[in-house]
Amino acid sequence: MDFTAPKGTYDLLPPRAEAFLEVRAGLAAPARLAGYGYTETPLFEDTALFARGVGASTDVVTKEMYTFDDRGGRSLTLRPEGTAGVLRAALEGGLHKGQLPVKLWYSGSYFRYERPQAGRYRHFSQVGLEALGSDDPALDAEVVWLAVQAYAGLGLTGVRLLLNTLGDAACRPAYREALRAFLRGLDLDADTRARVEVNPLRVLDDKRPEVQAQLAGAPLARDLLCAGCREHHARVTGLLDRLGVVWEDAPTLVRGLDYYTRTTFEFQHDGLGAQSAVGGGGRYDGLSEEVGGPPLAGIGWALGVDRTVLALQAEGIEPAGAVGCQVFLVPLGATAKERAVLLLAGLRRAGLAADLAYGDRGMKGAMRAADRSGATYAVVLGDRDLQAGVAQVKDLRDGGQVAVPLEELVTTLEGKL
Ligand code: HAM
Repeated sequence: MDFTAPKGTYDLLPPRAEAFLEVRAGLAAPARLAGYGYTETPLFEDTALFARGVGASTDVVTKEMYTFDDRGGRSLTLRPEGTAGVLRAALEGGLHKGQLPVKLWYSGSYFRYERPQAGRYRHFSQVGLEALGSDDPALDAEVVWLAVQAYAGLGLTGVRLLLNTLGDAACRPAYREALRAFLRGLDLDADTRARVEVNPLRVLDDKRPEVQAQLAGAPLARDLLCAGCREHHARVTGLLDRLGVVWEDAPTLVRGLDYYTRTTFEFQHDGLGAQSAVGGGGRYDGLSEEVGGPPLAGIGWALGVDRTVLALQAEGIEPAGAVGCQVFLVPLGATAKERAVLLLAGLRRAGLAADLAYGDRGMKGAMRAADRSGATYAVVLGDRDLQAGVAQVKDLRDGGQVAVPLEELVTTLEGKL
């Protein structure tokens, strides 16, 4: 074959793919119970939505977007994240004019042209939620708590919650200025110096050791919060404490996207190597206006499905797989095959996981297929048995075999399984 999956992507094939279904469902389960409604948006959006929403000077926008012109000359971009698109859809659908907060959850594929490594892909999968239209700190606590529940529900015990607050439109300008003044005194290359002027918070997120080494002593958003942000943070952390959520204070946490205000958080797992962030999110009270909408508060998160699967592996947890085969039909001869097709339909209608030895295999080959299927029972249909109106039901665990009248086959197997 002349092709492989594109660099930075991988295929999900059985049986491993089943774990992804389980993980997606598990991550979404707490949000669904909490009134978040399922949402799907296009895999591509107007490029400008991300440039303005995610932030023109973020790595995501400057280096990582899959951007192309369609045949109509529109610049489109494969979504690098979910928040901008979900907010766009909620505003376009007028959801913000109804009951607030609007609570939405989503699950799907995202695309970033990143350098591939373990846990970092160019096509990856997230489960996320967004709560729009309320700046109630109790909502921040709910959102964080739902992520904690999502990981716990899968059985993960090694997820750490890092929590920070980044201030808002009232106190951010003073913080940005203080940070700029500090950064101007550092030994930085020309690109980074330019970034200091455009978006100094981004420099805090610079991963290069020579930059990080100089950042000790940088002013913290925390130190310049306005009274409103201080009060908000105190109420969020107070509620999380009362909910029994364990969190780590992370005053230097700045995330890779520009829209965050106030509550900002990341979930990390130590079993993953360099790509330790299994999820993250925060409040984004100015994002709606940034994309041309009305003032509308918002908070949400996205949890990485690929990395959550890796975290489960690191903890030795096996997510439940598919319902394996329960009954395997072994017809011997053409007449038996016809009868087996009808029996198979009957078994499946009754909700049993049943399969059939396709292809004209002899008894030996068909029984090997039955064993491989993992079924608990094989049903052998021979011509003589069929004439007598019975089938041989063989227990593949102990080899025990009984003849069962054909019309009782479904109920008998239902009873046994
Ligand atoms: P994010 O931190 O960019 O946030 O991504 C969330 C999670 O997606 C990460 O913690 C990670 O687990 C996973 N992820 C990101 N990039 C990759 C990649 N290249 N390969 C594998 N996994 C990856 C957001 O996307 C925000 N939209 C979250 C949010 C929602 N904030 C507010 N609402």
